[in-house]
Amino acid sequence: MLILGIETSCDETAASVFDTEARKVLSSVLFSQVKEHGMFGGVVPEIASRSQLEKINYIVQESLDKGGTTIDAIDTIAVTNKPGLAGSLLVGVCFAKGVAWAMNKRIIGVNHLEGHIFSCFLQNDGSVNDAVPFPCITMTASGGHTALYKVSDYGVYEVIGETLDDAAGEAFDKIAKMLGHDYPGGAIIERMARDVNFEDFFHYPRTKQIGDKISFSFSGLKTAVLYDLVKRGAYDMATKRPTDKLTQELKHQVSSSLLVCMGDIFCASIQKAFELYPDLQAFTFGGGVACNKYLRQRLQDTCTKYGKQFFAAPPAYCTDNGAMIAFVGSYKAQQNKFSDITLDVLQ
Ligand code: KG4
Ligand code: ZN
Repeated sequence: MLILGIETSCDETAASVFDTEARKVLSSVLFSQVKEHGMFGGVVPEIASRSQLEKINYIVQESLDKGGTTIDAIDTIAVTNKPGLAGSLLVGVCFAKGVAWAMNKRIIGVNHLEGHIFSCFLQNDGSVNDAVPFPCITMTASGGHTALYKVSDYGVYEVIGETLDDAAGEAFDKIAKMLGHDYPGGAIIERMARDVNFEDFFHYPRTKQIGDKISFSFSGLKTAVLYDLVKRGAYDMATKRPTDKLTQELKHQVSSSLLVCMGDIFCASIQKAFELYPDLQAFTFGGGVACNKYLRQRLQDTCTKYGKQFFAAPPAYCTDNGAMIAFVGSYKAQQNKFSDITLDVLQ
């Protein structure tokens, strides 16, 4: 059975074909709007959905071509229907419903976060990694969400910890903006931190894990960095722009201190999870922030210390993509969990 996956929850237009017999991603195609939003310092919803409307036909066709198939051979269309920007989600969902209705295909609404959780089961070559044991602990960290899950089976998961305010990727992006970088800023912060060997210059505040609940908070960290920059005269609150006191050296120091702080926060959270759920033998890491090699290494080291296996989604499946949606669609189809033509966004 071939599943077509469509993802348009934020600023990407993505499509993928997954083969349920071969248990493999046959194609994964993406149009990223990063350049269109970069100058605004974040995603502009109206620009995102208009661009998706222009691109979706071509991206879906390209995913079919690259997968060596045609729409006739597709059995089921899996499409992200929540959470995300309503206008963007509508583009994917309306497209999927239109094709499903016109060509008599089955349709499955997929939760974007479930996509990120199960992207950790995909390997570089698109095959499914059967070595990941259930149950396991999964962390997803991206621009819109940061959470820890206990994952018991395909499609079976519960939140065991989440952010009380901003997402980790959002903190990277907002702090990068304070440093005068374009959106999205996570990868730039990582590059700058690497240049100064991930040294912790400023010791920003870490979220403490208190009691038997796991939680994250990044808005305090964002404010701490802002006030520190203001104190150094490197940021002007009135114009909301960096000043000429923001030297390259200071940018490197802030970036590196931020990343080390994030590493400490992430490691403390999974340490807590290992203590609360000692029987869980593996940890998996996904979402856009999981592209970060420094964070991957820190988390892997923590897993080794606790005798746990470590798995991370391949970078191409960390950021938003259609393959993770097609993959979730594949096991939902096998579990007979189809949606119907009344499928709507954000429901
Ligand atoms: O999963 P994703 O593509 O979209 C959302 O669902 O939000 O994640 C995008 C986020 C952005 O905040 C971006 O700054 C962050 O992932 N990101 C990184 C890195 N690459 C992307 N954060 C830290 N280090 C990176 N190397
Ligand atoms: Zn995402």
